[in-house]
Amino acid sequence: MEFLGSNILSIDQFDRKDIDLIFKTADQLFPFASRQKITRVLQGAILSNMFFEPSTRTRISFGSAFNMLGGEVRETTEVEATSLAKGESLYDTSRVLSGYSDVIVMRHPLAGSVAEFAKASRVPVINGGDGDNEHPSQALLDLFTIKKELESHKKNIESSRIALIGDLKFGRAVHSLCKVLMLYENISIKLVSPNELKLPNFLVGELKKRNISILETQDIKEGIADVDILYMTRIQEERFNNSSEASKYKGLMSLNQEIYTKNCEPNTVIMHPLPRDSRKDANELDEDLNQNPNLAIYRQTDNGLLIRMALFSLILGVADKIEDTASSVDWFSNKS
Ligand code: CP
Repeated sequence: MEFLGSNILSIDQFDRKDIDLIFKTADQLFPFASRQKITRVLQGAILSNMFFEPSTRTRISFGSAFNMLGGEVRETTEVEATSLAKGESLYDTSRVLSGYSDVIVMRHPLAGSVAEFAKASRVPVINGGDGDNEHPSQALLDLFTIKKELESHKKNIESSRIALIGDLKFGRAVHSLCKVLMLYENISIKLVSPNELKLPNFLVGELKKRNISILETQDIKEGIADVDILYMTRIQEERFNNSSEASKYKGLMSLNQEIYTKNCEPNTVIMHPLPRDSRKDANELDEDLNQNPNLAIYRQTDNGLLIRMALFSLILGVADKIEDTASSVDWFSNKS
């Protein structure tokens, strides 16, 4: 794809070459994300970060990524704080905001809403998650993490065995991850979920069409055996009609150190897009795994910064100018 000036709305728009370019750019940005170097390559540019659903990682990491490239960030964190609450359309909101910004990141509870918003925008729009549909930047950082983790065990994405566990019906991160995994050969995927929260049929069909080997099960012990990657997910309570309906499924797919030790191969990587639900009734990823070296969840969140810096660099056309504008820093002492 041509990155310059493009929206990032769905994983569907990428091919393998695009993914390789994003990952190569992300690797080049590591000294900047880890504060060994700074750049002001986006000095004067403005990001509007429009989040109409709760977020910690996506909103702050997109904002930090833009700041680390030298740009400025304007934010809205709820519908009630905008004129959408007064009946303004997404079209008008988009048309107006694109006059104030060089790029917009948007999260919204309705599937398809970010694509609709992008139609009226005169600047690139990035989908920060639209309802139960997609979360493309999450899938890119997840795949980048899968690649790094597997490489550290002398494996690679091709031929990998991955278990996707939890709410596969409403989990937009899983939907986007499935789509990006379809670009790779010889992958096998275990889909581990309660029957009512299975991956949508159209995605299962697409995976099979791409010759990805699929096993569907409701048994977490069967699901987590003989895989390289465990990708846990939260029950997406906010997508259910009410919280008591969601609570029926909480705690059904829980992983802790004991279950991991008994059922998983050594060095099985544990991932989660986060947030994990750490309340007792849910607890899909127990905190007793926090010291497990195979728990990759914080490496995953750190990688989000690199991937989001790479996306801004590519769509704003500055990826090849970053090194020229780099300077070293003397104020930063490395975090442990
Ligand atoms: N993974 C993710 O989208 O997290 P946030 O909801 O905190 O942004």
